[in-house]
Amino acid sequence: MVKHTDHTVTVLDKLTYAGNRASLAGLPEDRVRLVVGDIADAGAVDPLVAEADAVVHYAAESHNDNSLHDPRPFLDTNIIGTYTLLEAARRHQVRFHHISTDEVYGDLELDDPARFTEHTPYNPSSPYSSTKAGSDLLVRAWVRSFGVRATISNCSNNYGPYQHVEKFIPRQITNVIRGIRPKLYGTGENVRDWIHADDHSSAVLTILDKGEIGQTYLIGADGEKDNKTVVESILELMGQPTDAYDLVTDRPGHDLRYAIDSTKLRTELGWTPTYGDFDSGLAATIEWYRQNEAWWAPAKDGVEAFYASKGQ
Ligand code: DAU
Repeated sequence: MVKHTDHTVTVLDKLTYAGNRASLAGLPEDRVRLVVGDIADAGAVDPLVAEADAVVHYAAESHNDNSLHDPRPFLDTNIIGTYTLLEAARRHQVRFHHISTDEVYGDLELDDPARFTEHTPYNPSSPYSSTKAGSDLLVRAWVRSFGVRATISNCSNNYGPYQHVEKFIPRQITNVIRGIRPKLYGTGENVRDWIHADDHSSAVLTILDKGEIGQTYLIGADGEKDNKTVVESILELMGQPTDAYDLVTDRPGHDLRYAIDSTKLRTELGWTPTYGDFDSGLAATIEWYRQNEAWWAPAKDGVEAFYASKGQ
């Protein structure tokens, strides 16, 4: 992995319910600056982009369950926010990298030998994934029409430390820590393609360094697992019986399976993931949640109340 020790980073974050200042604790203060603001606010965005060498656009409303409950913030941040950043990148001719998701491709059958590639047609299912698909198309249009120097990456499901407790893996780990049984939607047969967040970051850095302008790269680490298997691993690693979970109301429109073919990124840019063994990455993640209850505890009760209101 390429590592830079001389760059400075400005984090523009609205600090919604999903943001947390404490996630920046311990980073060098002379090289990492937090600006609290909205990517859809051109007045906040413009001066920051004007002084940047590159914009890496991670900001998004990202949670499917929330988008099914209230889609509007997804349109505001994912569509208008991306448009606002692109316009600033265009004005100031700044290199742009857009972070997106494999969910833009819809889902696959469980027994389909195919995986998503850069050529798979877009077919998003949820309000969340449709706004991410729309944002990808905006980036492509700004490259072609206005010459913005942009690349796009579409990544599979991330796991690791600092992930909000609304997401599947941290929700189940923190449930077990709290003495609550893990909750599996539907039958638990849905498959996700897991990648450690550090591997996602190294892929993004590789694309920023070596990616070809106008190109899309899929990021994945061959980590397909069904949800039931993941919950059983969490229970086993946490010393619980592996059947100590509940099956709960399924997510409406629940995508069945995601699977990434990351051949292009690996062969053209030479990227490889470093977390080969899911169970050891999961064990380290469990340990992080055990050690960092102060980071996640303030959000836990609200998240569980939201899920409980939907029978999940
Ligand atoms: O594929 C990339 C995407 O991965 C990202 O674009 C999204 O921002 C990110 O949220 C994630 O989307 P998912 O909907 O796949 O992630 P989530 O953690 O919500 O759920 C993962 C799987 O686990 C999914 O099949 C739903 C299921 N699930 C989720 C929760 C919260 C459960 O069975 N029980 C749960 O309590």
